[in-house]
Amino acid sequence: MSAATSTPFYLEGNFAPVTEEVTAQGLPVEGAIPPELRGLYLRNGPNPRNGKDPGHWFGGDGMVHGVRLDGGAARWYRNRWVRTRPFEEGEGPQLVSGAGVVDHSVAIANTNVIGHAGRIFALVESSFPTELTHELDTVGPCDFEGRLNTSMTAHPKLCPTTGDLHFFGYRFVPPFLTYHRLDAAGKLVQSEEIPVKGATMIHDFAITDGHLIFMDLPIVFTPELVAEGRFPYQWSHDYGARLGVLPKGGRGADTHWLEVDPCYAFHPMNAFERDGELVLDVARYETLWEDGPEVFNAAYLHRFTLDLEAEKVSEAKLDDRAIEFPRVDERLVGKPNRFGYAAADPIVPGRLENQLVKYDHETGKVEGHDFGAGCRPGEGVMVPAADGAGEDEGWVMCFVHDAARDASDLVILDAGNFSGPPVAKVKLPQRVPFGFHGNWVPDAA
Ligand SMILES: [Fe+2]
Repeated sequence: MSAATSTPFYLEGNFAPVTEEVTAQGLPVEGAIPPELRGLYLRNGPNPRNGKDPGHWFGGDGMVHGVRLDGGAARWYRNRWVRTRPFEEGEGPQLVSGAGVVDHSVAIANTNVIGHAGRIFALVESSFPTELTHELDTVGPCDFEGRLNTSMTAHPKLCPTTGDLHFFGYRFVPPFLTYHRLDAAGKLVQSEEIPVKGATMIHDFAITDGHLIFMDLPIVFTPELVAEGRFPYQWSHDYGARLGVLPKGGRGADTHWLEVDPCYAFHPMNAFERDGELVLDVARYETLWEDGPEVFNAAYLHRFTLDLEAEKVSEAKLDDRAIEFPRVDERLVGKPNRFGYAAADPIVPGRLENQLVKYDHETGKVEGHDFGAGCRPGEGVMVPAADGAGEDEGWVMCFVHDAARDASDLVILDAGNFSGPPVAKVKLPQRVPFGFHGNWVPDAA
């Protein structure tokens, strides 16, 4: 697909941006919203202002859609652009100055939205986080009291044991990769340069109880694409692929790199330690962007098992379904998980699949929730029913677009009765374009 010869997929159908910021109170609901759900369901995604083609799906201004649930009711829906400097000032502020200096306060903040230590942040991997209020108004870029000196991945990992938020920043000039840790109070307490041999696109990473796992995979920074005004990363046939393992609390130079077969993964499902090995499950692309960064293909759930003593990695494809946006119960990030969730093939344009899937690693069963013809879900977010609830005791929430109505619902599924009828559907006042990632931000957070 070439942006030069046809309308790009990300400006068509329900990929196309919405034009209005809407506030609606007291939303209609089919079914019954569990009263335990008190908080915000938030999701970010690209929504280019004025419908202008940003040149790549990943380049549109960020827009956060949010629904407040409380007392069994859907109190409000809001969608707000993240008012970054590029949004407010147009093309004036540049991420990279003529002198090659990166200004991390220049962000489009379109990839994820999280809660941590009582604050809400919209994230994009090129820049600082952008803080939002709990009503989705923009506060501004955050560098954690001047301590953050790199960008922040859109996929930080909250350790369920310590409350620490582990993350990293990457860039296309050395140092290519820097690891950071916020403590549970939201203070940046550790930064470590991680030695990497080249400038690759490092979208996400994984943690276990004892380790951090970085993915140095062959989507490489390509200056020729910059010169062409295109997204600046594509597949390399000779870069190779490595997983970097660093003990938590270790120094960057302690990172141990293990070779794997060339591949790409935007997203791990989870990682954990078992019998002295590290297990890392990802949505794996055999290749990606071989013919340039505009064409997406399919990913499959894949398991890396890292034997650190033998310095060997074994690999296995776990399932033949094309999936993306893998998630687990956030209480089990870095710990053995029985269940995982993913959207069936949500990225490949033209393959509008209508399922979320639930993996049971104990039985090998894969259960789908079919939303019906023309109804396409985004990423599913697992919300436990209570702190001590069982692993699939809770709900999986996602926005679902119904092409026939050109309308979207927030759908709440019973995680333990995954293929059964939804617990509730919150009817939204406008469609929610297909986007990227979101999270549940409970009132206590
Ligand atoms: Fe992502």
